[in-house]
Amino acid sequence: MATKQANSAAGEARPYEPAAGTAVRRVTAGAIRRRKGHAIFPMITAYDAAFGRFAEEAGIDYILVGDSLGNVVLGYDETTPVTLEQMLHHTQAVVRGTTRAHIVADMPFGSYQVSDEDALRSAIRLIKEGGAQSVKLEGGVHEADRIRAIAASGIPVVGHIGVNPQTASLGPGYKVRTNREKLFADARAVQNAGAYAIVLEVVDPGIASEITAMLAIPTIGIGAGTDCDSQVLVLHDVLGMYPHSPSFAKRFGEIGQAATEALRAYASDVREKRFPAG
Ligand code: KIV
Repeated sequence: MATKQANSAAGEARPYEPAAGTAVRRVTAGAIRRRKGHAIFPMITAYDAAFGRFAEEAGIDYILVGDSLGNVVLGYDETTPVTLEQMLHHTQAVVRGTTRAHIVADMPFGSYQVSDEDALRSAIRLIKEGGAQSVKLEGGVHEADRIRAIAASGIPVVGHIGVNPQTASLGPGYKVRTNREKLFADARAVQNAGAYAIVLEVVDPGIASEITAMLAIPTIGIGAGTDCDSQVLVLHDVLGMYPHSPSFAKRFGEIGQAATEALRAYASDVREKRFPAG
């Protein structure tokens, strides 16, 4: 209670406040890092409390609040417009809906590119106000200094190389990355800067396999073949919430269709006065 009062006196918004003596320990970045070389583990994106809870109930303890938020929740065509405030809002919701999972918050475009200080300030907000356990940012050699600055402050960082959606539409596009030399240099730079894990997005599977063997930190593949230490997919692709999903994704459900059918049944019952029952 004393802690709660001290926090509110300081005007800090705490997203999650376990009662005294009941603190729940979340999976740490160190524990994720130590999964390297053991069984492959799943990661999924989530953007709100309900789906964070569903993921945790499904036994997934590594959740990314991705800036894919822009595409699948906020209705943008790309991730570039997503703001730090939007990431904070959705990270807090996922944290509130989960108890044990490690929550990674994506750093949106513009929140880390300008300077190390800016990057660290944004990362601190995602941890302190968002309640995330680690942050992720896109880029290899070019963003190594940002990763170093954040990691040096004690905040665990995930790197992200291959296709970087925040800038893909500005130039390089979404085609499979096959430049072995660049991918290796980026992967090494991210690890050497202090990241504890790295996303490989739409990377040639053979190169992803070699990078996984070369690095001491876990690789998290998305469209990068079968040999990564972990796999991540966007929740809405896994659940089939939109008519189309990327070719590398697998639809494990058709929730979009199920939702439309349920809403159609509801609307029909209201129109025909079957609901509410008299
Ligand atoms: O924003 C996101 O969902 C991501 C994953 C696709 C890795 O960065």
